[in-house]
Amino acid sequence: MQVLHIVGARPNFMKVAPVLAALRHYPHIRQQLLHTGQHYDTNMSEIFFQQLGLPTPDINLGVGSGSHTVQTAQTMLAFEAFVLQDRPDRVLVYGDVNSTVAVSLVCAKLGIPVAHVEAGLRSFDRSMPEEINRLLTDQIADMLFTPSADGDRNLLREGVAPEKVHLVGNVMIDTLIRLQPAAEALWPGLQARFKLAAFGLVTLHRPSNVDDPRMLAQILHTLDELAHEIPLLFPIHPRTRRRIEEHSLTPQARQLLLCEPLGYLEFLTLQRHARLVITDSGGVQEETTYLQVPCLTLRENTERPVTVEVGSNQLVGRNMDLLKRMVWEILGGGRRTGAIPPLWDGCAGERIAAIIANSI
Ligand code: UD1
Ligand code: UDP
Repeated sequence: MQVLHIVGARPNFMKVAPVLAALRHYPHIRQQLLHTGQHYDTNMSEIFFQQLGLPTPDINLGVGSGSHTVQTAQTMLAFEAFVLQDRPDRVLVYGDVNSTVAVSLVCAKLGIPVAHVEAGLRSFDRSMPEEINRLLTDQIADMLFTPSADGDRNLLREGVAPEKVHLVGNVMIDTLIRLQPAAEALWPGLQARFKLAAFGLVTLHRPSNVDDPRMLAQILHTLDELAHEIPLLFPIHPRTRRRIEEHSLTPQARQLLLCEPLGYLEFLTLQRHARLVITDSGGVQEETTYLQVPCLTLRENTERPVTVEVGSNQLVGRNMDLLKRMVWEILGGGRRTGAIPPLWDGCAGERIAAIIANSI
């Protein structure tokens, strides 16, 4: 059986790694890895291939940036041309980025079965581009691998047949567990590089936070203020950097340390050692939950409710006063640690591989 894995953007790389590794144990399965090229900077793509031990992609479609329509359409055109030449028996798509939905749509039209890893997540906010990508991909896929039980409930409510849905746990946590020792070895060097003692870690890239200059200015102003209480390290996503430059919003506080996006290992160990994390990332909500580090999420909703119900995550929305209060509470010792959700145990990739391998 020929299996084709699709990746395109930063959070896909951590998710594909454990599935690729686990499928190697099944000799009847041949694997190919296709990169759409949605993310292309070295520190948004190549570094993860090195650090996660991923093979060089067999194909890179080189799609790059553009509007949602341009990016999705170009991925569809390039992907269709590829699969018409070299048709796989099954395609595996990951997460909720434009590459995920574009490839799924092409497969639906050509009758190629699609398995979706990280299925069933819902923010119930259709203004979020990823929510549309999740809804469509889950309607197309014939195998849906969910990270938590809320995913199963969402899918069943949307009419997905129960036999298509498999609760397997969280592949992102497989990668975290595997690479935590390697990440930890980098901590002394990072501490010295950024002169860190107690610190907070920040990531931001959601269009709802960074594409609206007033919102972005408010968030940066608040981070500036908070950096007087605790130094904040802020590796900046390229979308956010572009917005900061466009609107001349460069923060002023010396304790707010801006840097380029970091590698996976560097970012993982920084999360583990941070007093708190401020983010709007999906994956970071999950990783802080596993690491039991307090996480304040600058979003009104989350497609990962288990991180709030079970984990250490708290939604603060767009309320900057609440953000400040929560930071003070955490610094004052009100540390919310939470627990690790069921099946976030390092074996999700193996469960997925077993189901795929036994499906023929
Ligand atoms: C995408 C995903 C989002 C995911 C995020 C992870 C969609 C709809 N969005 O958002 O779900 O959380 O990736 O990081 O798929 N850019 C660069 N270099 C790169 C990549 C991007 O400079 O290597 C810049 C470009 O200016 C580009 C912008 O970032 O226009 C946005 O990139 P894009 O892939 O469209 O969306 P993200 O915001 O990265
Ligand atoms: N990440 C990273 N370097 C950074 C910021 C994040 O390696 O500078 C990792 C993070 O640990 C997680 C993943 O990127 O594994 C999350 O991806 P991102 O926030 O880009 O996307 P989302 O999860 O929101 O879709």
